[in-house]
Amino acid sequence: MSDILEIIKRRRSIRKFTAEPVSQEQIQALLEAAMAAPSASNRRPWEFVVINDEKRLEALRARLPFGRYNAPLAIVVCGDMRRAYPAPGRDFWICDCSAAMQNILLAATGMGLGSVWVGIYPIGLLVRAVSSLVNLPEHVIPLGVAYVGHPAETKPPRTQYDASRVHWQEFAPRAPRRRKPWWPFGKGRSKGEGTA
Ligand SMILES: Cc1cc2nc3c(=O)[nH]c(=O)nc-3n(C[C@H](O)[C@H](O)[C@H](O)COP(=O)(O)O)c2cc1C
Repeated sequence: MSDILEIIKRRRSIRKFTAEPVSQEQIQALLEAAMAAPSASNRRPWEFVVINDEKRLEALRARLPFGRYNAPLAIVVCGDMRRAYPAPGRDFWICDCSAAMQNILLAATGMGLGSVWVGIYPIGLLVRAVSSLVNLPEHVIPLGVAYVGHPAETKPPRTQYDASRVHWQEFAPRAPRRRKPWWPFGKGRSKGEGTA
């Protein structure tokens, strides 16, 4: 296993794959990585639909205009609203499932596989199209698809570090507060002047 920081930088969106299937052991390892993710209150509101049947993959591609990639494996990462944190924290499911999704991508990279995250939620059209394809019940929402396979393209490792996005202690130093002038008609006597 390589160093985690190296894997994080090596993870790139791979959109071209060879025909070699992802093995059952590899799929198991990806799902274990997904379910090692942190979740609010440890509620683990995730469900995973694993698709490696070519006919179904074809149908999935047809429903994802920005996800027509030839990966031999797709994992639909879903949130179960019955397990989600109660209101007002319900949307934590998005954070929880995103952490699981990222774990899949990182684990795939560490295993020498390529992957790409294809977003579904919150695009209603895509949510409905994928839900009906994989037969999700009402209370289960698809967050996104992780396509995984043996890469047929390479991309250089990178970070996109940008020092201007880093803020220490607070977002920006507060601008000095301007006092409202007591005299509303331009430059005049300042308060206290000529009162002696
Ligand atoms: C929420 C989300 C949705 C995404 N949706 C798509 C998508 O529909 N199709 C796609 O090809 N890539 C998608 N991506 C991948 C991004 O395009 C990619 O992460 C970004 O361009 C940065 O490139 P990198 O992953 O190689 O670092 C998505 C990524 C995220 C996080």
